[in-house]
Amino acid sequence: VKPSAEAFAPSNIALCKYWGKRDNALNLPVNSSLSISLGHLGTHTRLALSDSGEDKVLLNGKEQALDSPFAAKAIAFWDLFRRDQILPIEINTTNNIPTAAGLASSASGFAALTKAINEFANLNLPIDVLSAFARMGSGSACRSLFDGFVEWEMGQLEDGMDSHGIALEASWPDLRVGLVKVETGEKAVDSRSGMKRTVETAHLYQSWPMQAAMDIQKLRQAIADKDIDALGMTAEHNAMSMHATMIASWPPLLYWQPASVAVMQNVWGLREQGVSVYLTMDAGPNIKLLFEADQEAAIKAVFNDMEVVAPFAS
Ligand code: DP6
Repeated sequence: VKPSAEAFAPSNIALCKYWGKRDNALNLPVNSSLSISLGHLGTHTRLALSDSGEDKVLLNGKEQALDSPFAAKAIAFWDLFRRDQILPIEINTTNNIPTAAGLASSASGFAALTKAINEFANLNLPIDVLSAFARMGSGSACRSLFDGFVEWEMGQLEDGMDSHGIALEASWPDLRVGLVKVETGEKAVDSRSGMKRTVETAHLYQSWPMQAAMDIQKLRQAIADKDIDALGMTAEHNAMSMHATMIASWPPLLYWQPASVAVMQNVWGLREQGVSVYLTMDAGPNIKLLFEADQEAAIKAVFNDMEVVAPFAS
């Protein structure tokens, strides 16, 4: 190994969601998904051999107890690589995702950790293999190995090595992602257990793989045409359909808060006034908006504290 190594990976938002696994241990999905990476918003990870001889994990500058969920997951991931070698590590993770945006960071976290391990241990692995490794940390992380639009091909192989991200050749300089945070004191069910519950208990889930497959086709076309209405409509419909399967689970899984619904209604109100804006949501109450640069002022007039990301800005 090297004395130290570092890497950055962007956060990503799925336009066609990953929801449901065919293999829980390897994070192999039931359906392919498609996302947009958030440029410079993401996770920076630095690895070094630990001086103390003990593993050490820092998150945003603060040392984490080794039995905390964050540290335990990061160390378990490093264990996949060091196996039985004695290589105590210091993992130093910094997220630059504004906490105000309420974005999850496990995708960029495992992607950055995978890239940093590749450097640190001189593995020189190709990016699709790194993507498949990151997937084992968290499914959505396999998409954060790439910038821009990324498709995660579900794959067929049992070992999952064909289940990884692939970058789409596309640029869309005017595309914007708005992050609208909804405050909540509630502890959400994490996506891992949420999708398991959905797969096991929601009859409605049976139609999900077909919808996802159709939505990926529509998104590819919308991206090729730079058609914000086709892109936004498909992404919003996809997110709502995923949430429908969650609500149809038992016990019901509803990530929405009253404030999330208020944001939705404001988005739909803007659309009625002719503003081209669409929403998507993941396993939490926050809302992400999709629009083009020329609509930003009208949208900001309604959502004053929205964070705006330009995924293709250089
Ligand atoms: C709703 O990748 O967090 O955000 O593989 O269990 O770690 P694990 O799940 P995770 O699930 C993300 C679910 C989602 C949709 C998406 O990002 O595609």
